[in-house]
Amino acid sequence: MLVPVLLSGGVGSRLWPVSREAHPKQFLPLASELSMLQATLERTSALRASAPLVVCNEEHRFMVAEQLRQLSVQPAGILLEPEGRNTAPAVALAALQALETDQEAILLVLPADHIIKDTAAFTDAVAAAMPLAEDGYLVTFGVVPASPETGYGYIQRGDAVGEAGFELRAFFEKPDADTASAYVESGDFLWNSGMFLLRAATYLEELGNYAPDMAQHCRAAMAAASSDLDFVRPDRAAFAASASDSIDYAVMERTTRGAVVPLDCGWSDVGAWSTLWEVSAQDQDGNVLQGDVIAEDCRGSYLRSESRLLAAAGIDDLVVVETADAILVASRHRVQDVKRIVTRLREEG
Ligand code: GDD
Ligand code: MG
Repeated sequence: MLVPVLLSGGVGSRLWPVSREAHPKQFLPLASELSMLQATLERTSALRASAPLVVCNEEHRFMVAEQLRQLSVQPAGILLEPEGRNTAPAVALAALQALETDQEAILLVLPADHIIKDTAAFTDAVAAAMPLAEDGYLVTFGVVPASPETGYGYIQRGDAVGEAGFELRAFFEKPDADTASAYVESGDFLWNSGMFLLRAATYLEELGNYAPDMAQHCRAAMAAASSDLDFVRPDRAAFAASASDSIDYAVMERTTRGAVVPLDCGWSDVGAWSTLWEVSAQDQDGNVLQGDVIAEDCRGSYLRSESRLLAAAGIDDLVVVETADAILVASRHRVQDVKRIVTRLREEG
């Protein structure tokens, strides 16, 4: 049984002021009519998969339930985290839930904030990875790097395995800029897409090997879980006792059972406004205009209006995002700094 697992716990602070804590990016229709969570679900409909599991913060439960209902998707469960503990525990909860009904369950772990242009290529890559996951590999999907991004994991390919994969020689999560440049130049590395295909049982075994306390706390949280409607609530105290870490640092950097299947499907992680500028339809001057916007002699800019008319003249390479209570104006090359603005807003109240 192939079980899609949607990770939907992030905050999306670099997409402020549209993305907010109460309403983060994955629930918003940023790149299409569907929210990114819904687009991710739709992408799994071509797979021969069973009902999905969604792992999210408990505060977002009604939004998740409503967005699934809009697509007529009946989930196998919506796992509610009382507080985020990053992706390693989130995947552990899903693995434990899936094993309740199927000891052989294979999880397709999908962050709910990615854009994929070529769904058929994605579907093919998942099919190609299935035999490897069945064989007990923790499979990642690797993307040819376009730049020395420091926000991604880098995968070094080893020997070919199966028809489409490679053993994972090494995995480096978020290297510094010089290291990332060296990796990209070597031509030997792929970006970790953050999507994984793995046997639930194998993942828990590896988590038990490399982060035994975390595995133990997640088991305790699920053993004492309660449920109502589609919601599954891991025990609050047991889950809170778990350390916070990503699947990348906790497992993928350490495992000897990793494999990578290359993926060429127009993938992007919608982390910041510049990504939306890149992936959206641009006018002849390289502008992306969303909402009620007039641009006169502008170039290379992302202009988005949510509640009022936004007019711009003679600007280059800017991001301007208007909402009812806040406006962002940033260089398109400095949009990573939006996170710092959000941190300051939080600190300064
Ligand atoms: N349920 C749940 N709970 N989901 C979470 C949590 C959590 O505590 N924390 C993060 N997520 C979700 C996010 O919403 C996102 O969809 C996904 O898990 C990945 O988390 P990110 O925080 O976006 O990770 P990242 O972008 O820094 O790094 C990961 O993705 C990169 C590619 O986009 C890593 O896997 C990198 O290696 C990879 O290159
Ligand atoms: Mg991300």
